[in-house]
Amino acid sequence: MDNSVPTRVRLSEGSTPRGSAELPSRRSVLLGAAAAIPMAALGAAGGARAQDGGDHDGNGSGHGPMDMTGSTKTSATSHVGHAGFPTGSVPPARAGIDPTAILRDFDTGTVSTLPNGQVLREWEITAIDVEFEIAPGVTFPAWTYNGRVPGPTLWCREGDALRIHFTNAGSHPHTMHFHGLHTAEMDGTPGIGAGSIAPGATFTYEFDAVPFGTHLYHCHQSPLAPHIAKGLYGGFIIEPKSGREPADDEMVMVMNGYNTDGGDDNEFYSVNGLPFHFMDHPVQVKKNALVRIHLINVLEYDPVNSFHVHGNFFHYYPTGTMLTPSEYTDTVSQVQGQRGIVDIRFPYTGKYMFHAHKTEFAELGWMGFFEVSE
Ligand code: CU
Ligand code: CA
Ligand code: CU
Repeated sequence: MDNSVPTRVRLSEGSTPRGSAELPSRRSVLLGAAAAIPMAALGAAGGARAQDGGDHDGNGSGHGPMDMTGSTKTSATSHVGHAGFPTGSVPPARAGIDPTAILRDFDTGTVSTLPNGQVLREWEITAIDVEFEIAPGVTFPAWTYNGRVPGPTLWCREGDALRIHFTNAGSHPHTMHFHGLHTAEMDGTPGIGAGSIAPGATFTYEFDAVPFGTHLYHCHQSPLAPHIAKGLYGGFIIEPKSGREPADDEMVMVMNGYNTDGGDDNEFYSVNGLPFHFMDHPVQVKKNALVRIHLINVLEYDPVNSFHVHGNFFHYYPTGTMLTPSEYTDTVSQVQGQRGIVDIRFPYTGKYMFHAHKTEFAELGWMGFFEVSE
């Protein structure tokens, strides 16, 4: 292995490297080029593990995109897995990210009542730099809200008063920019109101929960793409006052990507932060139950993401702002920041894939299974 290959290019304020000729694109990873990025990343992050033959501990599944380079294959654990795709997820405890736990983890905040009777929800959110192992031997120096990627899913009810106490314990200035209705001062945009929150500084964002729907928040510091792509995003769910048809199971899926080597493209894709995770740990659901998925796309660098499920159809509510679905389908696309609600019932037991319908994203981590039981 050539350790002289330049590894990750650390993104820093105002100096986003773009299109360096020395950086192989992730397309070259797929095509099996020699100097593929995950290998370069291994040189920096997991060299010993890679050089000893890549006998990764973990769940015994095969490897991800590294298999496609043809250079880190190990005889014991590599295989072309489920549905003909190579897989290989890092065990959540080792990765530092557990997408299954994130699925149903709705943070309703600290609840109290204001003198006017309005429900008040408060959250403490801290930006902090954390490194995760997102693929076997590939670490990603993330910027996070509360130490996780994606950040906490904030849940509230339409009309609630919200206070988000933000502390920046990271190494760069950040903001929290919420989608929703609020004043300019509360928008988390640099130069307006409190604007950029410097490392060590705090600010409380305050607004009411409107309109109902499935929304998101993210950092709005420039350069914007890396601030988002480094992991500063999360779901923001406003439940309608009137409620929706009660779901038997409710979850959030945040579609993201990882740019592990700089440049302006992603090397990995995932749902809830860990590539290939749901291949090895299928989402467990019950036959005929109403499963409600808040689907949110925060992917940077690629213009469009998508969600496709095998063998089943779902009702789709764009942005979750209406109580009637716009579509009955098995595939939806979302641009950056777009989101919506997927209401789905599985009429048959068994395992059904879900993945980006963009094959390249799927092969780089954005695929998984639902496992339907009685
Ligand atoms: Cu930021
Ligand atoms: Ca890249
Ligand atoms: Cu946004």
